[in-house]
Amino acid sequence: MSEPQSRREYIREIAAKASADEHPAGWFEQVYTTAEGESAAIPWALMQPNPHLLAWLDEGDRPQSGPRALVVGCGLGDDAEALAERGYQVTAFDISTRAIAWCQERFPNSSVAYQVADLFEFAQSHPQAFDFVFECRTIQALPLKVRQQTISSICQLLAPKGTLFVITNIRQDEAAPEGPPWPLSETELQQILQQGLQEIQRHRPSGTNRPTLCIEYRRVA
Ligand SMILES: C[S@@+](CC[C@H](N)C(=O)[O-])C[C@H]1O[C@@H](n2cnc3c(N)ncnc32)[C@H](O)[C@@H]1O
Repeated sequence: MSEPQSRREYIREIAAKASADEHPAGWFEQVYTTAEGESAAIPWALMQPNPHLLAWLDEGDRPQSGPRALVVGCGLGDDAEALAERGYQVTAFDISTRAIAWCQERFPNSSVAYQVADLFEFAQSHPQAFDFVFECRTIQALPLKVRQQTISSICQLLAPKGTLFVITNIRQDEAAPEGPPWPLSETELQQILQQGLQEIQRHRPSGTNRPTLCIEYRRVA
């Protein structure tokens, strides 16, 4: 495995090339396969559930079992497993075949239905199919030219009265950022409301190295 700095440069290079080649998600498989099983080579892999998801689940009256939950761009599966442990019926998908195989190796007895799928196609075939959708750092991992499509695909998956919980980096203005990642602007977040969702609450967790927002939305019935 290469040194962290050169690994980051390598990832930026393949992401830029994929974006220019009109395959904005085409670089993720390379990141996972070239990691050769070393999670340290996956810059976003926490190897534990996202602490902001756990904090949100612990607050208020979250349903403890039953709801059909979906994890978008599930990476190495820790968030999907955390939801399954709390009784959710979890589907989790990622565009990377290697990432999904890695989830299955890590959690061989899991109840999570792991799938290799592209968000844009998955959303078409599962309209309004989930009571709870968790999206963490997938929107920001795709360039601005597919932002609207990414946001509308995620929203399309949510059942009436369903909850969407988003964890994302944000940027302070509308200027195009140099990515990856490509943090979201306030105007881009407004696109979620245009999909028939209502913002229920948001907070900005402290202790993150990039400006981050956790936002809960509900689909208007
Ligand atoms: C920055 S990573 C975040 C992973 C995980 N959500 C987390 O927070 O650790 C983005 C993930 O989204 C996946 N992804 C990117 N584009 C996708 C698409 N169009 N459909 C499905 N998954 C996608 C990538 O393979 C990658 O695992």
